[in-house]
Amino acid sequence: MESTSHRHGLTIAIDGPAGSGKSTIAKLLAERLGIGYLDTGAMYRSLTLVALEAGVDLDDQEAVAGLLPNLHLSADSNPVNPHFYVGQREVTSLIRTPQIAEAVPKIAVNLLVRAWMVEQQRRRMAEASADGSGMVAEGRDITTVVYPEADLRVLLVASPLARMKRRARELFGDDSAESLAKVRAQIVDRDASDSKVSEFLTPGPGIELVDTSELDIEGVLEAVLALLPAESSGAHSRM
Ligand code: DC
Repeated sequence: MESTSHRHGLTIAIDGPAGSGKSTIAKLLAERLGIGYLDTGAMYRSLTLVALEAGVDLDDQEAVAGLLPNLHLSADSNPVNPHFYVGQREVTSLIRTPQIAEAVPKIAVNLLVRAWMVEQQRRRMAEASADGSGMVAEGRDITTVVYPEADLRVLLVASPLARMKRRARELFGDDSAESLAKVRAQIVDRDASDSKVSEFLTPGPGIELVDTSELDIEGVLEAVLALLPAESSGAHSRM
């Protein structure tokens, strides 16, 4: 990995709705720039797993928050194949099940949980900035709440149709009308649920908007790399 020329402690914040391509882009950026990767959605998913296993009522916000003092979430920040842990236990595949995807919005609307998550995520970004390792973090509130001081803040958006097509191709291998109908609710419902807790569909001042509807992965990556502050843009050209 050629990473010597990236700016010391570079931090990048990426937000976007489900299907905007932010996970793929965040991982590729981290890999290309030789910096760490933080998947904040995985943290909400991990707590969801713990709460379900503990038999806690996800609607009982105080009870869910009661799990936080003993919750130790970690991840290796290697973007190529990130692994997630609760304590010593690896949960990488356990947090990607449909059951977790369905339950996680209840955890994400819990403001006690959000305050805890934001603090943890903020600390990791600040550490990566201070120790020089650098980090790209992706989620819904990274550009606005978690780390507005990031060197680059990007909001990735795509039309609902483009996002439905991506999700349909991912799940069914095609984007026929039938496949689109199956994923419509997922995309539309998640937008509605996510927008209850964070405003991420219109960029605030200083946040760069990238519309990925008509772009492939490489196109999005190039668009984001072009936005990097000048001092750090040399890294990718030396790969
Ligand atoms: O990106 P994802 O699908 O892994 O996110 C899982 C859930 O967590 C989803 O409901 C959005 C929510 N989330 C959030 O509210 N804030 C974040 N920073 C990241 C994810």
